[in-house]
Amino acid sequence: MTIKSAEFVISNTNVAKCPKDRIPEYAFIGRSNVGKSSLINMLMKRKDLAKTSGKPGKTQLINHFKINDKWFLVDLPGYGYAQVSKKKRAKFQSFIEDYFKQREQLVCTFVLIDSRHDPQKIDLEFMQFLGENRIPFCIVFTKADKLGSAKLNKQITAYKKKLLNFWEELPMSFITSSANSFGRDEFLNFIEQVNQDVAKDFN
Ligand code: GTP
Ligand code: MG
Repeated sequence: MTIKSAEFVISNTNVAKCPKDRIPEYAFIGRSNVGKSSLINMLMKRKDLAKTSGKPGKTQLINHFKINDKWFLVDLPGYGYAQVSKKKRAKFQSFIEDYFKQREQLVCTFVLIDSRHDPQKIDLEFMQFLGENRIPFCIVFTKADKLGSAKLNKQITAYKKKLLNFWEELPMSFITSSANSFGRDEFLNFIEQVNQDVAKDFN
C-alpha cells in the first residue's frame, strides 16, 4: 500500500469525542515505551507524526491519525507505567477500556511486545481482556534490531509457545523495527487486505 497522506485529527480522553467517520480503524496498544508511537511514524515514513520519547509515559491521550483519507491509525497511552500516580492510572485505564468496548469502527488492535521480553502478566491480561470482549488483535514484536536474527527467532518462538498455554490458537503476528523499517511492507499489506475485507461493512 502506498501512503499518500497521514494527518493528525484529534486527541482526547473520551471515546464519545473520537471522530465520527465510518471508516476502518486500527489501534496500537502495549506497555509504555514498547514503541507504539515510533511504529506509527515508521509506517507513515514521518519523523514526528506521533510524539515519541525515551522516557515511558509519553502518549497520554487517544490520538487519531487519518491515513489516505480512508482509515484511522490510533496511538494510545501505554499501560504498566509505574511512575504515573495511581489515580491517574485508574483514569487512564477506564478511558482505554471505554475506547476498546465502545469504538465500533475498530477492526483490528495491534498489541505491541518488545521482542527481547518474555511474556509478562500485564500483556497476557490485556490480551485476555481483548479476547473476552471479542476484539480482534494481532501481536507485533517490536525493536527487532536490538537482537541478532538467531536470538530474535528463538525469543519469538518461545513467546508463541508460552502463549499456547493460554490460547488455543495463536493470533497473527508481525516482527518490526522502527529503527530500520523492518516489517513495514508486510504490516501495511495486512492493513490493506483488512480494509478490503471489511469494506462491505462500512457502506
Ligand atoms: P508511550 O507513549 O510512553 O506509551 O511509549 P511508546 O510505546 O509510544 O514508545 P515510543 O515510540 O515513544 O518509543 C520509546 C523508545 O523506544 C524511544 O526512545 C524510541 O526511539 C525507542 N524505539 C521505539 N521503537 C524502536 C525500535 O524499533 N528500535 C529501537 N532500537 N528503538 C526503538
Ligand atoms: Mg507513545
